[in-house]
Amino acid sequence: LLCSHIKAEVHYHDFVVQATPVKRLCKTHNIITVNGQYPGPTLEVKNGDTLVINVVNRARYNVTLHWHGIRQMRTGWADGPEMVTQCPIRPGGSYTYRFTIEGQEGTLWWHAHSSWLRATVYGALIIHPKENNSYPFTNPTREIPILLGEWWDANPIDVVREATRTGAAPNISDAFTINGQPGDFYNCSGKDTTVIPVGAGDTNLLRVINAALNTELFFAIAGHQMTVVGADASYTKPFTTSVIMLGPGQTTDVLVTMDQPPSRYYMAARAYASAQGVPFDNTTTTAILDYDCGCSTKPGLAIQPAFPALPAYNDTSTATAFSTGLRSLDKVRIPSPVDEDLFFTVGLGLFNCPPGKTCGGPNGTRFGASVNNVSFVLPTSFSILQAHHHGVPGVFTTDFPANPPVQFDYTAANVSRALWQPVPATKVYKLKYGSVVQLVLQGTSIFAAENHPIHIHGYDFYILAEGFGNFDAAKDTAKFNLVDPPMRNTVGVPVNGWAVIRFVADNPGVWLMHCHLDVHITWGLAMAFLVEDGVGELQSLEPPPADLPLC
Ligand code: C2O
Repeated sequence: LLCSHIKAEVHYHDFVVQATPVKRLCKTHNIITVNGQYPGPTLEVKNGDTLVINVVNRARYNVTLHWHGIRQMRTGWADGPEMVTQCPIRPGGSYTYRFTIEGQEGTLWWHAHSSWLRATVYGALIIHPKENNSYPFTNPTREIPILLGEWWDANPIDVVREATRTGAAPNISDAFTINGQPGDFYNCSGKDTTVIPVGAGDTNLLRVINAALNTELFFAIAGHQMTVVGADASYTKPFTTSVIMLGPGQTTDVLVTMDQPPSRYYMAARAYASAQGVPFDNTTTTAILDYDCGCSTKPGLAIQPAFPALPAYNDTSTATAFSTGLRSLDKVRIPSPVDEDLFFTVGLGLFNCPPGKTCGGPNGTRFGASVNNVSFVLPTSFSILQAHHHGVPGVFTTDFPANPPVQFDYTAANVSRALWQPVPATKVYKLKYGSVVQLVLQGTSIFAAENHPIHIHGYDFYILAEGFGNFDAAKDTAKFNLVDPPMRNTVGVPVNGWAVIRFVADNPGVWLMHCHLDVHITWGLAMAFLVEDGVGELQSLEPPPADLPLC
């Protein structure tokens, strides 16, 4: 007994980024994959393990990979956002990401963090408890990753290039997918629908990941309730629901007991599109839970699977009820008192068209987006982290405004554009190392109101409260959950509303914060935190790896 010890392992993987022919929606396309797989390989590790992933770029695009939700304590060089922590891996180049899982358990994922490559370059990253530790819930019979995605008939890189050229909104995708397959309700997709065999009476753990580029998604299973036990690799108080909602970047772990008459049941995902007054094509992706009853062939048994009830695309109350229902499993020691009290607006805006050009946005403008009116611009010569490390001036400035430049009714329609023209810049906000940060994220409706799934790299945070309208410290502070708030890495800031998060700035580095709708990051809805643990330096950050790409 005395000899029992925790074994941490090192997992080595080769990830070859390459063009691969894949047939979807009746046509074959050359898409970018890892190791020819779409979705990409699932990484399975234990809490405490180390991952060493050698990425070789055989595609014709620049690429970086990001390990979404991994804390990357002192290993910021492995975080991956292009031009923030590294220059891209050029075609023909390679880079090895090396990092250790410290204290996280549950479902995360990995994805490309260059342009819109993550449309097809993504996979699950599953973290099991340490050796000899168990889940804080019934041990499931099977664990099933469910990756929700989005498929474009066009090359997603061309879609975003065209949108950037014209300033217009990019085309929407042609299908949603479950584990890479659109499913029965899309053209030419029926025979490839994902079928998941299950045993009657079993309780399975579904690890649901929203890897879609630009769409929040509802997910439900016909006839079955889901018991939520985790979100963003953090355990939650179990609660039972018939529908879950995930913003891009978010994960939700659910236990599902196969307690229905043996048959085939659809699981399905459909858009939650909160943009007000913008009707959305709510086509639906499906997969099939198959009770191994031979139901599709046995006479007398259901051939057509049952279909779940899914909320309407604009059902904000169901979406909100789900996200505000999440609680940490245990009582939390909330970091306090607050050292940094920040207020950031997040929202869309419009840029004037450059003189002599025609732009495709509303009334001849270009779409933009910003945090506190600063529209984030990626540097081109050095990544921010490299520039900081080598003391290269002129790549970024540290004057990101801690509070919005003007105060007004953020959620009123038609705020004067003169008041709110996003300013393009590469600005970071310096957080004092070890400080307790409270951040109010206030959605705006300068141009349009939408839900924004805001993701912070290098940190998990507690979501203390969320609500609609303008955040009002005098009355909303009383609503803070200081007992068992959920811990996440991506928070949905409600449409025309706000969310308050809290975390300790204990990880030195440069950490991107952005809306996880890729179209919004393209428009500049991002900023970065700089956390220095030395005077003007990142003292305990590990040195840059020798193979770190240069620009
Ligand atoms: Cu999942 Cu910056 O990303």
